[in-house]
Amino acid sequence: MNTQIKILAIESSCDETAAAVVQNGREVLSNVIYSQIELHKLYGGVVPEIASRKHIEKINQVIREALAQADTSLEQIDAVAVTYGPGLVGALLVGVAAAKAVAFAAGKPLVGVHHIEGHISANYIEHPDLEPPFLCLVASGGHTHLVKVTDYGHYQILGQTRDDAAGEAFDKVARAIGLGYPGGPKIEKLAKEGNPDAIDFPRAKMADSPYDFSFSGLKSAVLNYLNGAAMKNEAVNKADVAASFQKAVSDVLVQNLISGAQACQMNQVAIAGGVASNQTIRKAAERACLERGFRFYYPSPVFCTDNAAMIGAAAYYEYRAGVTHDWSLNAVPNLKLGGS
Ligand code: KG4
Ligand code: ZN
Repeated sequence: MNTQIKILAIESSCDETAAAVVQNGREVLSNVIYSQIELHKLYGGVVPEIASRKHIEKINQVIREALAQADTSLEQIDAVAVTYGPGLVGALLVGVAAAKAVAFAAGKPLVGVHHIEGHISANYIEHPDLEPPFLCLVASGGHTHLVKVTDYGHYQILGQTRDDAAGEAFDKVARAIGLGYPGGPKIEKLAKEGNPDAIDFPRAKMADSPYDFSFSGLKSAVLNYLNGAAMKNEAVNKADVAASFQKAVSDVLVQNLISGAQACQMNQVAIAGGVASNQTIRKAAERACLERGFRFYYPSPVFCTDNAAMIGAAAYYEYRAGVTHDWSLNAVPNLKLGGS
């Protein structure tokens, strides 16, 4: 096998049309992201049909730009990787069809990647020292998973959300306080002006599974708080609501992360996904890890939210292990991680 492995990676599972060229899993030669956020903002969230149509319009251009910015021709690519699940089926299909077409035309192998595996692998990009085993919290708009990375490409799910994902809770609470989509960055900004201890929102604990998460009770508590104030004609300090909500999410994420790491005796801990770009949450996780002597890793914000570089990083380790897919590869909207 060639010592320099270049992978062209494609990601289209939600509202970002993205392509990247990644060398040896860790060196990002290009990372092109066309975000559809402005389009979906109008509707307060991602509209699947609009997302698919926009992916179709943009995908070829994004792939061409990724190759051009990496100064790489298709002939110099070793494999074409693509997210094939989980995600919106119509959105995923665009990326999968494009990847198959490019790989077939160029005579290159195809590597299908699990989206969460991509988020986890975003940590490899800027941390050359990070190698499995480690524990990773993946918190995004669609997922909240505590994952034990036992080896490259080998995962065990320790816990996951029972209802809403952490990012989804951010988006719903943001909508309720009139901030719009996407909620995470807007709540984070407003929370800077608020008191995180002003309102005691609930922190859910699952008695039967200590590493699972639940955010729907917290979301309802925020909505009840807002409705209660509206009925009494009382003014609400939105910054306090944002800061107290963010603190409640952060406390639960960090607590499960730490107790999970202790339970599986992991001294390397990472976070990933859109919510991991939240500085308050990241700093709280970092502090908790360093206090216990754990090494702590997180990706830069651009590699936390959806991107194709993370798919290229994950695909490298799959490809190196001999994993490739044939032309029957299909979009799998509810694809499970590690077969669990
Ligand atoms: O990873 P991602 O781009 O897409 C999914 O795979 O879902 O995550 C998007 C989610 C959205 O729910 C967004 O509100 C949240 O991540 N997010 C944040 C922040 N930036 C994005 N949540 C909290 N704080 C942020 N700064
Ligand atoms: Zn994602």
